[in-house]
Amino acid sequence: MRIVLMGPPGAGKGTQAAVVAKELNIPHISTGEIFRANVGAGTELGVEAKKYMDKGEYVPDSVTNAMVADRLAQPDTENGFLLDGYPRTLEQVGELDVILVGLGTPLDKVVEITANTEEVIARLLNRAKLEGRADDTEEVIRRRMEVYAEQTEPLTAVYREEGKLIQVDGMGSVEDVTARLLSALSA
Ligand code: AP5
Repeated sequence: MRIVLMGPPGAGKGTQAAVVAKELNIPHISTGEIFRANVGAGTELGVEAKKYMDKGEYVPDSVTNAMVADRLAQPDTENGFLLDGYPRTLEQVGELDVILVGLGTPLDKVVEITANTEEVIARLLNRAKLEGRADDTEEVIRRRMEVYAEQTEPLTAVYREEGKLIQVDGMGSVEDVTARLLSALSA
């Protein structure tokens, strides 16, 4: 299965993607995680990405697209993948289409996890206390939400038009959301 997981910051994409990818035996590919690994390792990509991430802005499409094209060319994606947090812009949608045509493998489903704004802010402020992620300050969280609404939310219309969009309620316990997701994916 080739799946895209969308949703605002704190909706639970990373948490759910880890469980669902394991369940479906496909790699979980998170652009945010790849960027953070590069920031941690101090690579050129990480230095570039950090300039945007710390402000809650998106890393430029040229950088992100090249990174994803490279990742999807790896052999572990042959039986499918779960893309967490990509695509996030219309240009990335176009690039993903090109990559998939090249691989001869269309996307199966696009899942949007929805969640209440105040709940996701509370989740992220809680994570800030536990993990100290650099972009989990209230100001940057609110900017991330705005950027999602402006640049990523409109993509749902594109995938709805293609008949690929599924919306899953991300409120409630992690286990309840996982059950909803797996049920929606198998329908
Ligand atoms: P990314 O890491 O993808 O961050 P995000 O989209 O802001 O999402 P989060 O990781 O904050 O939330 P999530 O929805 O994954 O929720 P999670 O499961 O972690 O991207 C970071 C940055 O990288 C971007 O801002 C951008 O700069 C850059 N970037 C990434 N992709 C890019 C792209 N394609 N193009 C350009 N730039 C890109 O959960 C959050 C918290 O809530 C956790 O503590 C979790 O334990 C908790 N939680 C989860 N589910 C529940 C639940 N049901 N109940 C209670 N708590 C819960």
